[in-house]
Amino acid sequence: MRMAVKEFGSRLPTTHAGAVCGLALGVLVASIHAAPPSPKPDANTSREAFLQVYKVFTSPRCQNCHPAGDSPLQGDDSHVHLQNVGRGKDGHGVYGMRCDTCHQTTNLPGEHMPPGNSKWSLPAPEHKMVFVGRSPAELCRQLKDPKQTGGRSLQQLLEHVSTDDLVGWAWGPGTGRTPPPLSRSDTAMQMKIWIGGGAACPQ
Ligand code: HEC
Ligand code: HEC
Repeated sequence: MRMAVKEFGSRLPTTHAGAVCGLALGVLVASIHAAPPSPKPDANTSREAFLQVYKVFTSPRCQNCHPAGDSPLQGDDSHVHLQNVGRGKDGHGVYGMRCDTCHQTTNLPGEHMPPGNSKWSLPAPEHKMVFVGRSPAELCRQLKDPKQTGGRSLQQLLEHVSTDDLVGWAWGPGTGRTPPPLSRSDTAMQMKIWIGGGAACPQ
């Protein structure tokens, strides 16, 4: 073994051997002094992260405003909103039954009192942005289709989930309502991993 290495070394032109040696030393020094760069998430990591995001999007706090029909849903069991409330032309309800008739700019204290936010409404009928009943694969594809997200890119969706005031309500939903299963910052982090790994969709 030792002989073979020696022989190999002696056959290399000296400059080349020096370069190889220097390179090896450089790599060694670099690996001691710098932490290795964190690897770019691969498709599997991306898919796993989406499943975490999916759990949040389909939690009651989010899906109650992202229903398949034209009535909002209520409670941890996502039952149809009482009082026959409808989406209306702009998502803010129908004449005489506008959301802000009952929903104020902040939560009203107490069980079963209307929660509140200044933007309280459903998405408008042109872009219903349905989360209820979507499988992970379906929701993943939907979020990547600008025709179904009102033209938002993935980066803009991440921005929306990270900073939008109405989305933020879900993490301070008022008495008797369970917040989503991940914190807001963890949700944003999982979305970043999903997008960074190519926004892979579960099968
Ligand atoms: C007549 C009054 C009234 C109107 C109008 C109304 N709501 Fe509500 N809403 C309530 C009350 C009261 C609650 C709380 C129910 C509870 O906690 O049991 C509620 C709860 C909700 C919830 C449940 C929140 C959660 O995660 O559990 C959603 C979503 C909602 N309303 C959406 C809307 C939207 C959107 C509109 C307009 C299109 C609207 N509401 C119009 C009274 C109203
Ligand atoms: C009170 C109702 C309400 C709640 C609660 C709510 N949303 Fe929304 N959501 C909306 C409305 C209205 C829009 C449309 C806003 C717009 O287009 O500017 C929207 C849009 C979105 C969008 C962008 C559109 C798209 O492509 O789907 C995302 C993403 C989203 N919501 C995620 C969430 C998440 C995640 C939660 C829970 C953490 C949540 N929403 C809770 C009403 C709600």
